[in-house]
Amino acid sequence: MKLCNMAKVGMSSTVRILGPGRMSGVLNLPGDKSISHRVAMLAALAAGPSTIRGFASSADCASTLGCIQQLGVEVERARQAIVIPGRGLRGMRPLGETVRLDAGNSGSTMRMLAGILAAQPFTSEIDGDPSLRRRPMRRIIEPLSMMGSAIEAREGNFPPLTIPGGPLRAINYNSPVASAQVKTCVLLAGLFAEGATSYAEPAVSRNHTELMLREFGAAVEVEASDSTRVTVRGGTELTALDYEVPGDLSSAAFFVAGATVLPGSQIILRRVGLNPTRTAFIEVLNSLGASIRKENVTRYRGELIGDLVVRSSALGTDRNGTTISGPMIPNLIDEIPVLAVVATQVEGRLEIRGARELRIKESDRIRSVVSGIRALGGEIEEFDDGFGIEGPQQLTGGRVNSAGDHRIAMAFSIAGLIASGSTEIVEADCAAVSCPEFYELLKAVAGSNAIDTACAYE
Ligand code: S3P
Repeated sequence: MKLCNMAKVGMSSTVRILGPGRMSGVLNLPGDKSISHRVAMLAALAAGPSTIRGFASSADCASTLGCIQQLGVEVERARQAIVIPGRGLRGMRPLGETVRLDAGNSGSTMRMLAGILAAQPFTSEIDGDPSLRRRPMRRIIEPLSMMGSAIEAREGNFPPLTIPGGPLRAINYNSPVASAQVKTCVLLAGLFAEGATSYAEPAVSRNHTELMLREFGAAVEVEASDSTRVTVRGGTELTALDYEVPGDLSSAAFFVAGATVLPGSQIILRRVGLNPTRTAFIEVLNSLGASIRKENVTRYRGELIGDLVVRSSALGTDRNGTTISGPMIPNLIDEIPVLAVVATQVEGRLEIRGARELRIKESDRIRSVVSGIRALGGEIEEFDDGFGIEGPQQLTGGRVNSAGDHRIAMAFSIAGLIASGSTEIVEADCAAVSCPEFYELLKAVAGSNAIDTACAYE
């Protein structure tokens, strides 16, 4: 047994969870990761200072801030806020001769920023950690090449990326994947191209970029008859703004899941983002019989924000089982690991299909989920594009490897509270990639006796 520093990502640490537990209390979640990446990048391109409150504490968003600083844009830390004095659309001035950027574990940083880098009058190299180096980049290389970029990657697909910036031309792009990261990359590149760049996707992915571009004064349109197509007109200067980032719904999802399935639970999550392109997880749980109520919902800069009131309830599928698939998948993609954990407590068979994208996330999330459920004595059927779970099942404690994947570590912490006995999450500190406060928040609602973060158990 040895002491560990939970705040540091990358260091191996084990957290021990004692179940069964229950949750009660009121939480404020850290700022939304998706929105924070976007607001930092757009503020960097705007003319003048933007003040951002509630910016995500996530390690991924720190990677984005680190990159924009390398590109000569300052990030000032004020009380409860960061200030980014944007230098205008053409204002990036890298600090050194060679621009080497580190995206860490963050696919969003690399894919979205590539759209900006492709238009700069200098060459950049952007790399990441071993997990990011395994993630496919062809999905952004293809549209950026069509726009005129000579972007290169290892084996034409993997980081590091070398991006010789230059003038870009507008394109009409039909993406084969519903990916908000790819959409953002193309729309950001489109800000620099002459004319209108349009992007269409097979299903609507999260639409924060479209909403936020409009707030920064960009000329952006979403087709009225077909919300899967977005168009941005290049050349318009962005205007700096003040922005208050809502709590992260994807981090909230772990607590929503726990409070739903742990008998006797009731929690309130204050001021979380409730953008309809992100809430499919809540709709699925409610359709299975959960009690998740949205309260005090308001609109702020295009985004819906509100409180979630969650009470535990018995869940069940349709008589012949329930399958989650199709256009709903992109709207709950990050919540699928914890949905699988919930499924072990649902009466009936729940299948997730059409989610092959999970195999190319921070880990192969289908594999990681299957291994985790089995490590806790559960049964799960693995498919190439998802899995099937028959519930309810009695989970026992066990040792789960997070595979260095934040959403796996957090999903199986909830499984640990469901299971009887003790569950160890190996490499638990990776939760900091999206939610450094996760285990403290978990202690606050589940009790510090249930969560042991004091030591690493080797
Ligand atoms: C994100 C989009 C999704 C999601 C990721 C964040 C975003 O990725 O999984 O966690 O902020 O745009 P894809 O674009 O690869 O689907």
